[in-house]
Amino acid sequence: MSKNLIVLIFVLQIILMKNFLFTSIGKKFAMALSAIFLMIFLLQHFLINITSVFSESLFNWLSHFMGTNPLVQFILQPVLIAGVIFHFIMGFFLEIQNRRATKYEYHKDRGGANSTWMSRNMIWSGLVILSFLVLHFIDFWIPEMNHKYVEFLPDDPNRYHHELVEKFQDPYKVVFYCVSFVLLSLHLLHGFSSSLKSMGTNKSYASSVKNVSYAYSIGIPLGFCFIAIFHHFSH
Ligand code: HEM
Repeated sequence: MSKNLIVLIFVLQIILMKNFLFTSIGKKFAMALSAIFLMIFLLQHFLINITSVFSESLFNWLSHFMGTNPLVQFILQPVLIAGVIFHFIMGFFLEIQNRRATKYEYHKDRGGANSTWMSRNMIWSGLVILSFLVLHFIDFWIPEMNHKYVEFLPDDPNRYHHELVEKFQDPYKVVFYCVSFVLLSLHLLHGFSSSLKSMGTNKSYASSVKNVSYAYSIGIPLGFCFIAIFHHFSH
């Protein structure tokens, strides 16, 4: 195949993809894709953080590996931040689109009759998660970036665990974190199955999707609550 033909196919694919993303289904598909990506991140984030409860050395080792690996730092981390921003912006777009659609009688939202509380309040649970993320970034991410890339402080592979424990000494913060995790759970209870539906999963898997969705959406936020409360009282 000639080089020009490959370039032409590539350009055509980009145009088709761009057009697809402007359709209603395209936007929902992109939203679902970003949600699945963030749920995979959340699972690995939880698995790393739960080690802090039973093994200080394993948590330090994992945090040091993630914090110094160039692939994680310069490729995965920027992709993750872009994914978070994309998910929130697209969420607002879809919310506005849904509100416009409900102006027409045939789409009228009849409250609990045709939707769940979680699905009608995704924007509110999303906003609480967004404000949690702002505090969480101020707590962990910004000091970490400052340590490594602004002040170039000495690299101590054993600092991560006691830094984490220190952050959970303020009881108000633990309460705010746990309230946010409850809303995260409600957000996931609708978002998990909804994103898989938008990706076109087979209907025959519906009951397995529901079970996994419940286990993930309740288990992960509950686990995060446990981590915060554990470190608050274990100090
Ligand atoms: C008790 C619960 C949690 C703990 C102890 C925790 C801990 C941490 C730590 C230590 C970092 C800094 C990582 C680094 O850059 O070295 C971090 C970053 C981050 N956390 Fe959390 N986290 C918790 C819950 C959450 C939740 C529920 C979310 C999402 C809703 C979240 C999203 C993020 C994001 C997006 C980053 C920045 C990306 C990264 O550097 O990995 N975290 N967290």
